[in-house]
Amino acid sequence: MCEGRVAIVTGAGRGIGREHALMLASEGAAVLVNDLGASPAGEGSDAGPANEVVAEIEALGGQAVVNGADVTNFEESGAMVAQAIDAFGRLDILVNNAGILRDRMVFSMTEAEWDAVVGVHLKGHFCPTRHAAAYWRGQSKAGNAVDARVINTASPSGLYGNVGQANYGAAKAGIAGFTLVCALELGRLGVTANCLAPTAITRLVAPVMGGEENISDDLRARLSPRWVATVATWLASPAAKHVTGRVFDVRGDTIAIAEGWHRGPEDTFPAQPAEAGPVIEALLAKARPNADLDGKDAPDRF
Ligand SMILES: NC(=O)c1ccc[n+]([C@@H]2O[C@H](COP(=O)([O-])OP(=O)(O)OC[C@H]3O[C@@H](n4cnc5c(N)ncnc54)[C@H](O)[C@@H]3O)[C@@H](O)[C@H]2O)c1
Repeated sequence: MCEGRVAIVTGAGRGIGREHALMLASEGAAVLVNDLGASPAGEGSDAGPANEVVAEIEALGGQAVVNGADVTNFEESGAMVAQAIDAFGRLDILVNNAGILRDRMVFSMTEAEWDAVVGVHLKGHFCPTRHAAAYWRGQSKAGNAVDARVINTASPSGLYGNVGQANYGAAKAGIAGFTLVCALELGRLGVTANCLAPTAITRLVAPVMGGEENISDDLRARLSPRWVATVATWLASPAAKHVTGRVFDVRGDTIAIAEGWHRGPEDTFPAQPAEAGPVIEALLAKARPNADLDGKDAPDRF
C-alpha cells in the first residue's frame, strides 16, 4: 500500500509507534524510526529500542534508519526531517506518536508534570509537523506533486475527559484541534492531516489494566497495537488521499469516527443575567450530553 513512500514515525521504539513502523515498512515504505528511548514518564534516553526496530525492519527486507531526536526540540526535529530526506530522497508520511504520562489530580499536579506532558505531546507534534510542512510547501511551490500525510495521536482522554490527566487530556485535546488547523492549512499543498485516538495494550496502559502479567491472551489480541497501525497505514497510503481533518477512535479491533464539536441548540439571549437561567437550562435540556470515556452519551457523568 505504501510502496516507494517515505515515513517518519516518532516514538517508534515501542508500543503503538513500533507497530506503525513495522507495518508501514511491510507495506513498502522506507521508515525513519525515531525514539528518544525515554521511561514512561519521559525520563532518560536509550538508543536500544529504536535500533531494534530498525534491525527488525531490515531483517524483513525493508529499509529503515534510526533517529534519536527529542521531538520537543525544534532543531532536532528539523534535523530528523532532513535525515529522512537525505536517507531516502523524499518524505511522504509523518506519524506523530511519541508520548509520556505523568498522571496526577489537578490540585496536586506540579508545574514540571504539566510542562513535561504538554511539551512531549503538544509541542512534540508541532515541531516535526512544522519542518515536514515546510518541506512539502517547498515541493509544492517547485511544481512537484505532493501526496503527503500527517497522522497525529490524541487519546480518548483528550476527547472525552479522564480523571487524573489534566496535563495529558489538555495536550491530547490540543492535538485534535491542531489536526483540524493542519488539515485546513495543508490541504492545498496536497497534505492530509488526521488524528488517531487509540486504545492498545502497551507499557503506558498495562499498569491500569492490572499489570502485564494479569492481562488475558484474548484481551492482548483484541487490544494489540497492531490494529492502530492498520488504520495509520491505510491513512498513509494513496488510497486515503481524500480523507482529512478526521479523528479515529481506534480501540483494538473496533474503529469509530470521533465526531467533532458542533454548535448545538441556540436561542437569543436575555440582557439581564438574572433572566439567563431559564434560557440556558432549556438549551441544556435540548443539547446532546457530553460523552463518557467510551465516547457514549453520559447525561449523569459531570
Ligand atoms: N496505549 C494506549 O492505550 C494509548 C491510549 C491513548 C493514547 N495513546 C498514545 O499513543 C502514543 C504511543 O503510546 P504507547 O502506548 O505506544 O506508549 P509507549 O511508552 O510504548 O511508546 C511511546 C514512545 O515514545 C517515546 N518518547 C517519549 N518521549 C519522547 C520524545 N520526547 N521524543 C521522542 N520519543 C519519545 C518513548 O521512548 C516510547 O518509546 C502516545 O502518544 C500515547 O499518548 C496510547
